[in-house]
Amino acid sequence: MTSSTPDPTPTGAIPLIPAPDRASATHAVPEDTVVATLPSPAEDPHWYRTAVFYEVLTHAFMDSNHDGIGDFEGLRSKLDYLQWLGVDALWLPPFYPSPMADGGYDISDYTGIDERYGTMDDFRTLVADAHERGIRIVIDMVMNHTSDQHPWFQASRTDPSGPYGDFYVWRDRPSEYLDARVIFVDTEDSNWSWDEVRGQFFWHRFFSHQPDLNFENPAVREAVKNVLRFWADTGVDGFRLDAIPYLYEEDGTNCENLLPTHDFIAELRQMVDDEYPGTVLIAEANQPPHEVVAYFGTDAAPECHVCFHFPIMPKIFAALREETSKGVREVLAETPPLPKGGQWGTFLRNHDELTLEMVTEEERQKMYAWYAPEPRMRANVGIRRRLMPLLRGSRREVELAHALLLSFPGSPFLYYGDEIGMGDDIWLNDRDGVRTPMQWDDSPGAGYSTADPESFYLPLISSGMYRPTAVNVAEHRTRPTSMLNWLRSMLQIRRKYPVFGIGSLTLVATSDDAVLAFLRRDERQSVLCVNNLSTTSRSARLQLPGMAGWHLYDAASGNRFPDVREDETVDITLGRHGFYWLDVTFLDEEKDDEDQ
Ligand code: GLC
Ligand code: CA
Repeated sequence: MTSSTPDPTPTGAIPLIPAPDRASATHAVPEDTVVATLPSPAEDPHWYRTAVFYEVLTHAFMDSNHDGIGDFEGLRSKLDYLQWLGVDALWLPPFYPSPMADGGYDISDYTGIDERYGTMDDFRTLVADAHERGIRIVIDMVMNHTSDQHPWFQASRTDPSGPYGDFYVWRDRPSEYLDARVIFVDTEDSNWSWDEVRGQFFWHRFFSHQPDLNFENPAVREAVKNVLRFWADTGVDGFRLDAIPYLYEEDGTNCENLLPTHDFIAELRQMVDDEYPGTVLIAEANQPPHEVVAYFGTDAAPECHVCFHFPIMPKIFAALREETSKGVREVLAETPPLPKGGQWGTFLRNHDELTLEMVTEEERQKMYAWYAPEPRMRANVGIRRRLMPLLRGSRREVELAHALLLSFPGSPFLYYGDEIGMGDDIWLNDRDGVRTPMQWDDSPGAGYSTADPESFYLPLISSGMYRPTAVNVAEHRTRPTSMLNWLRSMLQIRRKYPVFGIGSLTLVATSDDAVLAFLRRDERQSVLCVNNLSTTSRSARLQLPGMAGWHLYDAASGNRFPDVREDETVDITLGRHGFYWLDVTFLDEEKDDEDQ
C-alpha cells in the first residue's frame, strides 16, 4: 500500500507517469506551512559549492508514530538539531514504495511514498520546514533500474508485445555485454538472469531483483524525465543520480560511461535548467577521476553540478595507516580541474560499503588487512563498517579524517550518526550494519522510538562501547569536549571560510612525508592546511614560495603563529594526528596601515 498522488489513468492500466500539468503545478505545500526563507536558486545559484551535506535515512532517524520505523514527521522534529549542528542540505536516500530488498534502492513505485514514512503532504511539509531553517533537500533518483515488483516489470514480463514489453533489456541468450563487470559480487555471478514468465533473460547491473531499464526505448526516457519533474514539483533542491554510469549498454565495452549515457544526462540537465532552474544534479559515478569528471559534461552540454569523488576516499583511510601523504597527494594531483560551476562531493562514509573498487589490488589487500580483518566486515568489493569503529575508536584519527574531509576541495557529505561516532553491527546482513537506528539518548529505544525495540526495522547497536547508553546525542550535547560539539565547531569555522568550497588547491612541499600541507585560496581568503598523518609528533619545514613575511593565524583560536620566514619557509610542529587550518594574511595589509 502506498500513498501516491491520484493516478489519472483508468483502473487496470499501469500508469506511465504523466508529465505534470505545468499550468497547475504549484510547488504546493499545505496551506498552514510557512514557505522558504532560503534564497531562491536564482539568488544563490552556487549554494551547493559551499554547502555541507548530511545523508540521512528517513527510516533510521526518528520514529514519530511509535511503530519502530523512522518517518518524515520524526525527521522534521529533528530539523532543529540538524540546524544546530550546522548542515546546509540533507540527502534523503529512497523513501519510495519498495520491497526493501536493497534498502529502498529497489523501487516499485517512483511517484509514491512508502506509507510507513508518511504521506506526500508530510513530505512537502518536511521540505518547507527544512527550507525555513535554511536547510535544502536533495533526494535520490534511481533511474538505472527498478524493483522486479514494479508494475512496469510485471507488465514487461507478462506482455512482451504490450506498451511495457520493451521497458527492460530482454534477450533470448545471455551472450551480450559480457565485458561488463558484476558489481554485487557477493550475491550475483552474472548480469543476466532468466525470467520464467517471459522465457527470456533480462539485464541487471545490481541485484537480480533489480532489472535495468532499457534507455534505448524513448518511452523509458520520457518516463524517467517525468519522475524527475514530479519530484522537482515538490520543491526539492536537487537529485542524487544513483548508479548513472550504467544507463546504456554496448557490446564490446564495459558498459560504463558510454556516450549515449552522457547524452541522456545532458538532456536531463537541459530539462532541469529550463523547467526547474537551480535544481542540482549530483552524480554517483564510482569511477576513476578522468571518467568521473566527464559527468560534469561540457560547456555546450553540461551534465551534473556535483560529482562524488570516489577515488579520494580510500586514500584518506590508507594515509592514516601508511602514515604518509603520498597517496593523497597523488590522487589530488590526478584530479582534473573542476569546470565552471562544478563541485566535488567528498565523503568518508555513507550507507554503502566503503568501496574499494577504485584502488589497485595491492592497495585493496592492504585496506582489508587494516580495516576489515574479519570476513564479515567485508561486502562486495569493500568494507561495511562505520567511521568510528573503522578508526579503532580513536577520536584523534576521526578528527583528522574530518579535518581532511572539510578542507579538501569539494562539498563534504556527512553520514548520520557519524557525528557522535556511532558503531556498526557486522552481524547484520548486506550493508544493514551501518544503517541502524540513530542514537538520541540512553532510553531503551535510544530516543529513536518508543516502540518495543524488537519491532525496530533493524536492531539497535548492542556492542559494549557503542551501545546507545554509551553513545548518544543527548550525552554528546551536554559534554563540551564531545565529538559532536567538536564537529559542530568545525562546521562553524568552515562556514567562515567559503574558500574551502570554492578556492583552488596548491600542494605545499614539506620536509616530512607524514605531514600533508596544502593551500586553499581564492581572491578573498587563503588557508594553509597542515595535517600530521602519523601516530607520533612531527615538526616539518614547509616551502611557501612567494609568501615571505606572511602572517599565519590559527583559524580555530585566532592565535598568531610564527610568520613565514624571509627564505619562504615556516616550521610547523604537530602532535600525533594533529592538524591546523592557518589563515594566511599578507603582510602588506599591515604595512598599509603603518603608512597612513
Ligand atoms: C547505489 C546505492 C546502493 C544500491 C545500488 C543499487 O550504488 O548507493 O545502496 O545498492 O545503487 O541500487
Ligand atoms: Ca514511524
